[in-house]
Amino acid sequence: MQTKLIRASVAHFPAETSMPDTDIAVFPDGALVIRGEKILAVGEYSAQTAAYPEAKQINCQGKWLLPGFIDSHLHFPQTAIMGSYGEQLLTWLNTFTFPAEQRFADEQHASVMAQVFLGELLKNGTTSALVFSSVHKGATNALFSAAKAMNMTLVAGKVCMDRHCPDALSDTAASAVADSHALIERWHDQGRLRYAITPRFAPTSSDQQLAALGELAQAYPDVFIQTHLSENQQEVAWVKSLFPDSRYYLDVYDSHNMVRPRAVFGHCLHLEAQEWQHLSRQGATAAFCPSSNLFLGSGLFNMQAAASHGVNVALATDIGAGTSFSMLSTYADAYRTCQLQGTPLSPLQGLYMTTQGAAIAHQLDHEIGNLNPGTYADFVLLEPRCTPLSKLRLTPTADISDVVFALAMLGDERAVAQTWIAGHCCYDRDRNSDS
Ligand code: GUN
Ligand code: ZN
Repeated sequence: MQTKLIRASVAHFPAETSMPDTDIAVFPDGALVIRGEKILAVGEYSAQTAAYPEAKQINCQGKWLLPGFIDSHLHFPQTAIMGSYGEQLLTWLNTFTFPAEQRFADEQHASVMAQVFLGELLKNGTTSALVFSSVHKGATNALFSAAKAMNMTLVAGKVCMDRHCPDALSDTAASAVADSHALIERWHDQGRLRYAITPRFAPTSSDQQLAALGELAQAYPDVFIQTHLSENQQEVAWVKSLFPDSRYYLDVYDSHNMVRPRAVFGHCLHLEAQEWQHLSRQGATAAFCPSSNLFLGSGLFNMQAAASHGVNVALATDIGAGTSFSMLSTYADAYRTCQLQGTPLSPLQGLYMTTQGAAIAHQLDHEIGNLNPGTYADFVLLEPRCTPLSKLRLTPTADISDVVFALAMLGDERAVAQTWIAGHCCYDRDRNSDS
């Protein structure tokens, strides 16, 4: 097996931190040494070239090598409805989302869309994701099969819903458990894949369905759980009327033991203090989906409340309400969201929430999210001076913080030169010019 040494400017967060701006490891003339699927070493170029004289050298000077990005909440069957105009959550679901998801009953369609979807992730430097499939087992198999062929860490689950949705998308308590169970047995921990039990959100699951999925989750304590929580004011009021005995929205999930580590709650915009405390106590994660929240007019995520309660926060696109697959552009919307609340978010906080911070929240940092030896060689090569405008804005010696900020605000997918997964270059901008 050949050892490869990639020479570039290198940065990552080697460990958990609440101070990403001081705890980032940066090697302006750095090197990543990889062998097969895994990382062997990271550090200064001079030291690594001396330690690995046999390595094949790949010269990427002028580029920044960062851990591959993690998108912690998005919907595979909504790729084709991104940018659908003019609605807030509940009308948007009925008008655009449910019709689009019905097409995924056709496995052929799902297979084609899985390739498109994973291709968009790679083009944007995203190497791992937590993904909602449609309600269909076949579509979920198609997504896992495509991710397995790429040898990527992908967490996904079949959506479960048995009410307040079209008949064609409705399962039952029993069929949701049977299908989810079969998918767990087939895919969870197969290679780098993981399963997420996926009730869409409280309004589309009966109490019986939530109870049955909660029992399934109890039987598989290391399986993920993903759903939505408190995204939209009308939704919150609806949940109150559907579950009058619950103290608050999160209580609906908690009463079925679904608030735990590896439970990831999309949005968390209108939480009561007790809900923040509850998320923190149980080690669950909030997925911050800023472009989606602005697009649907749902509200502003309160980063300060999350931080002060010690809740894990991971950044996410929430495609198809989100408007870009890019985690850099998603950071730009997170920054704007925090600016509106007078609490600006640093670029390196943003980078942390889509790399090591997310990996730690998902208990996957032994595998992804950083460049530590022994983890998978999943990384992105960013080209800071990739356009006439970015050449004006960024000098060749710009630091990592400035590079991330400028590319988030001004850049686009041209900034992603290459994306590598498990030691393979899966995307090369200069060889894939379909955009
Ligand atoms: N709440 C329930 N389902 C969805 C969905 O598909 N997208 C978003 N943004 N919120 C939801
Ligand atoms: Zn969502």
